[in-house]
Amino acid sequence: MRHVTDIETLGRDDLDRILEGALLYDRMLLEGKDIGDPLRGRLQFNLFYENSTRTSLSFLIAGRKMGVEVVNVPVAASSIHKGESLRDTVLTLAAQGADFLVLRASGAGSIDAAKSSMHEMGFGTSVINAGEGAFGHPTQALLDAATLYKALHREPKDGLGGISIAIIGDLVHSRVAASCTRLFAKLGAEVRLCAPEDLLPQWATDGAALVTTSRDEALDGVDVAMALRIQRERFDTDIPLDPETYRSDYGLSMEALSFAKPTAFVMHPGPMNRGVEIDDDVADDQSRSLILQQVAMGVPTRMSCLAFAAEL
Ligand code: CP
Repeated sequence: MRHVTDIETLGRDDLDRILEGALLYDRMLLEGKDIGDPLRGRLQFNLFYENSTRTSLSFLIAGRKMGVEVVNVPVAASSIHKGESLRDTVLTLAAQGADFLVLRASGAGSIDAAKSSMHEMGFGTSVINAGEGAFGHPTQALLDAATLYKALHREPKDGLGGISIAIIGDLVHSRVAASCTRLFAKLGAEVRLCAPEDLLPQWATDGAALVTTSRDEALDGVDVAMALRIQRERFDTDIPLDPETYRSDYGLSMEALSFAKPTAFVMHPGPMNRGVEIDDDVADDQSRSLILQQVAMGVPTRMSCLAFAAEL
């Protein structure tokens, strides 16, 4: 059993294998080919301490397509509300036979802590990180890379060399930005990070990316522009942020996109605040927006993550 807990601990071979699987399952699903229930008899728990639409549903669908029995843990109706700890909750699921634990949690280190707790108690459950606070969302980054490979007609062995990607928005609260920056850089892309000074995280300065507070500089001649949502729910101080000013300085509008290559793709991990970080006409521009393709790639990418975790 293997884990998918962060981008850092996955080597290039592992990343290529997951991304090849994502593109293969994507083709099989589109062509209506029989997947063949390769994980029949396995049990998957989806345990989400934070809200989700895309990730939770795509892990549910991915598990079912692979023949896995999938159980969504009803957090609001569970003993978590009687004060049961994350450790005791995941040990309970492991004791009930979990082969896969798909976990979304808030605290830094909670995914690794869950993995260690189960390992120490002798369970062989694979842990898959479905989003950890503001720290990481590796399967989102993987599905974003798979979406880009498909759009660019590249294979994982080709990498993303020669491609420049601007990630613009609330970086400090974005687990997607943290994982995408590490993954895209590992795959050879030039990553540019852009946010107002207050929303630039410490990790942005680790050398994996160029950093700027100027949206137009970030977008200059870029191949891909990714917008991020303002995560008001994670603000612990009253960072002054007027939506109109933010849109004007950091939003993806058609005018802002004129700095990018005419062929530049637009991405957003969702959920979107339309009219703030991205305009309607940009989000819905079928010639360049990959946003719904990112959603669609969630299922085959998570199927591939399950296959990787099970060492298929
Ligand atoms: N991109 C993403 O993680 O979306 P959800 O929060 O809806 O899962």
